[in-house]
Amino acid sequence: MEFKNLIFQKEDGIAIITVNRPKALNALNSETVKELNQLVETIDSDPDTKIVIITGGGEKSFVAGADISEMQNMNTLEGRNWGKFAQSVFNKIENLPQPVIAAVNGYALGGGCELAMSCDIRIAAENAKFGQPEVLLGVIPGFAGTQRLPRLIGKGRAKELMFTGDQIDAQEAYRIGLVNKVVPASELMDAAKKMAEKIMSRGPIAVQLCKTAVNEGMDMDLDSGQAYEREAFGVCFATEDQTEGMKAFVEKRPAKFIGK
Ligand code: CAA
Repeated sequence: MEFKNLIFQKEDGIAIITVNRPKALNALNSETVKELNQLVETIDSDPDTKIVIITGGGEKSFVAGADISEMQNMNTLEGRNWGKFAQSVFNKIENLPQPVIAAVNGYALGGGCELAMSCDIRIAAENAKFGQPEVLLGVIPGFAGTQRLPRLIGKGRAKELMFTGDQIDAQEAYRIGLVNKVVPASELMDAAKKMAEKIMSRGPIAVQLCKTAVNEGMDMDLDSGQAYEREAFGVCFATEDQTEGMKAFVEKRPAKFIGK
């Protein structure tokens, strides 16, 4: 698939999406978010894509936020619709059946931090910088940052980041739980692919059910979340992967999962 602002590659079941507007530090204009929407919808129903990695083009930036020049003259309705559309695209990313890894190779600010948070796992290069600087522009995070950031790092820290607009480096992002891992910039894509390969070697249906149980359960009370979990747990016992996984353990050999 050809896009103006995205590069899409597929290697051995791994789909790599690169947001590619390096001259604007990969800022998300509406054209880019529309392309992302189209690509994510395609990936959603592609049985050959087992895992997704999202990264940014160039050396300096993952995504430096929503495109400020495009937003500059928006009115109330346009602002709301822009937020609504991008939120819906990020929700589609969060709800993809495949695990999604953000390989954060530089600035992840505003909409860029929000994009990374819609991914399941974040791996950051040592030079990555995170922040929600919207208040410096007189707006608030509009692509679900006010919702996902406190869920990830807690209310107090999320409010500090949003109220001050400060940037934090990769180590600090790791310390507060915003990223899973920090690696040297030159090793970022290898680290993301290595993690992707490890996840792909596990029972794919089980991984998918873990993802939906966490995503659905986070918005439920504990009892409802546990009810959801035990139903999903039960479903695992209808799969060939469960038979193979447990048989392989007993036979002391690696399991060969087929995703059925
Ligand atoms: N929108 C549009 N253009 C952007 C951009 C953005 N978010 N971020 C960077 N650019 C452009 C710059 O305008 C510049 O373009 P020109 O060369 O044509 O002047 C180019 O990218 C390079 O940027 P800088 O010269 O500023 O690079 P720098 O290294 O000096 O600074 C930076 C890097 C600190 C990331 C700085 O560019 C910056 O502060 N960018 C804006 C970050 C921001 O505020 N993001 C939040 C946007 S609002 C949002 O995302 C709302 C939401 O929740 C959805």
